[in-house]
Amino acid sequence: MFRPSPGRHKYSMNLFVYELLQIHMKILFVNGSPNKNGNTARLAGELLAGKQYDTLNLVDYKLYAYGQQFDDDQFAEILEKMKAADLIVIGSPVYWHNMCGAVRNLLDRFYGPVSPGALSGKTLAFVFQGAAPEPWMLEKGAYTMKRFAKLYGMDYAGMVTDSREARSAAGKLKS
Ligand SMILES: Cc1cc2nc3c(=O)[nH]c(=O)nc-3n(C[C@H](O)[C@H](O)[C@H](O)COP(=O)(O)O)c2cc1C
Repeated sequence: MFRPSPGRHKYSMNLFVYELLQIHMKILFVNGSPNKNGNTARLAGELLAGKQYDTLNLVDYKLYAYGQQFDDDQFAEILEKMKAADLIVIGSPVYWHNMCGAVRNLLDRFYGPVSPGALSGKTLAFVFQGAAPEPWMLEKGAYTMKRFAKLYGMDYAGMVTDSREARSAAGKLKS
């Protein structure tokens, strides 16, 4: 275990705590794109540059639409992984002027089984990119994600839509 040396001043102690937080901070990238190494994953990688994180590709899970009930549904598994993370980055490509269906499904599925505030203490960031999205499309996505974060108790860290924004936000993330 790391210990601060006796007599270190307050700033050092804060730095120590910060370093410790970094070591233990769990980051989960939830990728809504079917392209595991596509543009969404690349942008998330730029946002999380230098940080350790796990990736959950929604395409690997059976996440049925809200209202469907099948025994092999894996929403509960996804939720557990999200609950185990401190920082959650949800990534979506723009599909039909909006977030992709996989991410939309995920958000829909919270409705009912997950209590408001259930993810309190966590931070949520949104990675949202497309071929040529218009600002209103991105804004709509950001609005939904911000409301999602608030309802479930997460701090909303904001949205990243291109490399420039990712680089700028990378330094500001808490973890
Ligand atoms: C079904 C579908 C719908 C799409 N709709 C849009 C759209 O409305 N606006 C846009 O800018 N790009 C749209 N695109 C393009 C993707 O957002 C773009 O190629 C994105 O970079 C893909 O991300 P990925 O590499 O992570 O899969 C669409 C792509 C697909 C497959």
